[in-house]
Amino acid sequence: MAKDIDLSTIHRAYAIWAPFYDKVYRKMLRSSQAAASNAAIAAGRQVLEVGVGTGLSLADYPKTHTVVGVDLSHPMLLRAKEKVEQGNLTAITGLAAMDACRLGFADGAFDAVVGAFMITLVPDAEGALNEFARVLRPGGEIVLVNHIGAESGPMATFEKLVAPLAKRVGWRAEFPLQRIRDWGKGAGFEVVETRKFGLMGYFTLIRLADRRAALRSAA
Ligand SMILES: C[S@@+](CC[C@H](N)C(=O)[O-])C[C@H]1O[C@@H](n2cnc3c(N)ncnc32)[C@H](O)[C@@H]1O
Repeated sequence: MAKDIDLSTIHRAYAIWAPFYDKVYRKMLRSSQAAASNAAIAAGRQVLEVGVGTGLSLADYPKTHTVVGVDLSHPMLLRAKEKVEQGNLTAITGLAAMDACRLGFADGAFDAVVGAFMITLVPDAEGALNEFARVLRPGGEIVLVNHIGAESGPMATFEKLVAPLAKRVGWRAEFPLQRIRDWGKGAGFEVVETRKFGLMGYFTLIRLADRRAALRSAA
């Protein structure tokens, strides 16, 4: 297994990506980002986007909602801030530099937490998901969208081979869906939807519904 990406690699990689990110990724990621925003919008009015990046999805949110975006990378956040100002995106009430594993928000503050194309980059992905769960209100929803690594076959072998190179540019290809399912099982979240997007279903939307209260009362 490839060594995990560390935070300094993320800082370095996304400082380089920031000026080009939208040109390279806007079209490629748009439909899956929009599906993630729509799932969050349906879950409630208070939304947190973790790893918000350049804010490609921020224009999706209606004025009825209140959205906060956080990211490790200042250069990426700067692009998001420009979009909010230029587009007069009044639903976006805050953008802040923050690590997904140390969110500076109160317990239960959000109806939905979105992690688009970021969870596979976090060395302690389960630690980040625990934080998403902490800041989520009871019955809320975690919405992830990502390339999820192939579990077997030639693509899995290819992804293992390119993992060291992918890591250098701030990507991570090998990350099994089972890891998210396992976290959900242990934390009281149910995977209520997985939906494929993009060429050959390369991207997967994963919706995790909070079942903690039901599990507690059944115990
Ligand atoms: C591939 S970009 C995705 C950006 C945006 N969500 C999108 O869909 O376009 C990954 C983003 O996650 C951020 N990121 C990576 N690790 C993070 C962490 N531990 N905490 C917060 N943000 C992180 C990066 O800085 C980068 O902006």
